[in-house]
Amino acid sequence: MRIITITLIFIMAVIFGAFGFVYSGILNVSATEKDPKILTWLLHTTMKKSVERRARNINVPDLMNREMILAGLADYVGMCAQCHGEPGQKPGVLAQGMNPPPPDLDHLAESGTAAEIFWIIRNGIRMTGMPSFGKTHEEKEIWPVVAFLESAGNITEEDYRRMKTEAIKYGHHIDESSMGFSEQGLINSDGFSNELDPEQPEEKHTDSLEVFTDGDRHGHNNGNHVH
Ligand code: HEC
Repeated sequence: MRIITITLIFIMAVIFGAFGFVYSGILNVSATEKDPKILTWLLHTTMKKSVERRARNINVPDLMNREMILAGLADYVGMCAQCHGEPGQKPGVLAQGMNPPPPDLDHLAESGTAAEIFWIIRNGIRMTGMPSFGKTHEEKEIWPVVAFLESAGNITEEDYRRMKTEAIKYGHHIDESSMGFSEQGLINSDGFSNELDPEQPEEKHTDSLEVFTDGDRHGHNNGNHVH
């Protein structure tokens, strides 16, 4: 009997304590506040395991397609770069102010299997700044970004810029100003040109991509979906 009373008192104390904590306003919700390491580990591990479990049954299409990868880079610039950044660039305003911080491109490329990355892009990660793109994009519009990330492990700044120059023709987020070309002077009066390395023949632009065969992009429909 005594044990039951003590247990009940203990449970009530925990419940009142929790409410007291919530209503007192003691917790600082500022994004500038550093989370304790143990909490970061707990949340991140929970997230990873949750994604791992849910991505198990996703069928991954063929991602070794050069045009698809380039389209994915263009889409990355349009959809992801403002948070996850680009090689050789300082993190943007959003990325600097977010908690948890968005990992950079190198980290993304290594962050999981193609199915897991696809799941994250489609669903987002709640209680972080990672949005769900599945609400506004069809699956066939998400796979190219996965294809790009799969091929972007340790990509150099130079390779990235070369690929980006080529990628302007692809993707559903194509807009020269958003790709930053006019600012970087990569477009001259003749139209499209790659001033980074004019001597280099076209096929040589993407050394790391030479293994990929040309082929149709996976039914990507340019620019007629809602954002
Ligand atoms: C508004 C900012 C924002 C945008 C836009 C955004 N992300 Fe994220 N993303 C985040 C944040 C913040 C996290 C970190 C979440 C965490 O720590 O759990 C994240 C996490 C991720 C992860 C998981 C990394 C890991 O450690 O496992 C992947 C993969 C990812 N994003 C891919 C993308 C891709 C691809 C795009 C574009 C289609 C994109 N994100 C667009 C903010 C963003």
